[in-house]
Amino acid sequence: MIDLAIGQPSPWLLPVEAMAKAAAHCTGHPDCVLLAYGAEQGDGHFRVALSKFLGKIYVQPIDAAQLLVTNGASQAIDLICTLFSKAGDTIFVEEPTYFLARKIFADHQLKPVSLPMDADGLIVEALEEELKRTRPAFLYTIPTYHNPTSVCLSASRREKLVELSRRYDIMVVADEVYHPLSYTSAPPPPLAVSCVSAKVISLGSFSKILAPGLRLGWLQAAPALVERIVQCGLLDSGGGLNPFTSGVVRSAMELGLMDENLTLLKETYSRRMQTMGAALRSRLPASARFIDPAGGFFIWLSLPEGTDTLDLLAKAKSRNVEFMPGSKFSSRQGLKNCLRLSFAYYDTPELLEGVERLAAVVGKG
Ligand SMILES: Cc1ncc(COP(=O)(O)O)c(C=O)c1O
Repeated sequence: MIDLAIGQPSPWLLPVEAMAKAAAHCTGHPDCVLLAYGAEQGDGHFRVALSKFLGKIYVQPIDAAQLLVTNGASQAIDLICTLFSKAGDTIFVEEPTYFLARKIFADHQLKPVSLPMDADGLIVEALEEELKRTRPAFLYTIPTYHNPTSVCLSASRREKLVELSRRYDIMVVADEVYHPLSYTSAPPPPLAVSCVSAKVISLGSFSKILAPGLRLGWLQAAPALVERIVQCGLLDSGGGLNPFTSGVVRSAMELGLMDENLTLLKETYSRRMQTMGAALRSRLPASARFIDPAGGFFIWLSLPEGTDTLDLLAKAKSRNVEFMPGSKFSSRQGLKNCLRLSFAYYDTPELLEGVERLAAVVGKG
């Protein structure tokens, strides 16, 4: 089976040696602080190292006071739901949106209203129209290398989104976990840079740039909003999240291992993205359309209207290939003619063979 639904790094890309080195470095001095309860906002030294690392990627200085350590973007989304919404509230999401965030929103009994996207990301005019009717608890958006479409919100729409957030006093939760994974050109400036001028909370994660098993991420927000989050019961009772792991990752950043890993990932994923894109173009019928990604993990295929990719998946499985059907990413039972492919997990031979098997299924319609 070649499972092109898998949105995670191949096992050989997990930085076992680098993490062993970083762990030895951070435990090599008699300092027990990492094994005690941590500061609610996250270890200060770690946040300074993180702000330097992010400053290089965002190409502007990042204030460590705006950063709060999380157990990853999923936990941050869950915490934001806990603190800033209540059961029955409306939230705005993109159509399509990250399918597992949909599940977290359902856990909190939130009601998603989905907003359309195009090749330039969320259609902000549609957002404005909806804001005239409804005030959501927040908008959840994936502005850069979107999951599943890989598109980026254009510069003018970013400006408009921030302006709308200010004008309507709407919280924007920007899931920016793929932002550092740019392959063809510099990524757009993150929404994180607007977190002081508007009510923006930006989410980042080491899952996509180091290892998902670390369960380590961060959020970036205005200091007053960070302070509100710091006061929550979870952090009051348990202290800051993941102090030990953040100590190890701080060493990885200070030793330059983090930069080395990110360079390797970008080279590898960029190659895989090109391999998959070229194979799809040569093997699939012209009626299968997709936008070439410039970063992230995914290619989003649109098949002719009337195709049901859930039915197609059953046929694909019988040919030992899998993908993620589009309906999983829809909040209104749509996107049935779409599917998501990941190029992150497999190397060239499996990607080529996977596309070959997929073409045999799609070709037959
Ligand atoms: C858009 C998006 N947000 C969040 C996550 C999960 O991130 P984490 O591992 O940091 O919880 C993923 C992982 O697939 C994702 O694609």
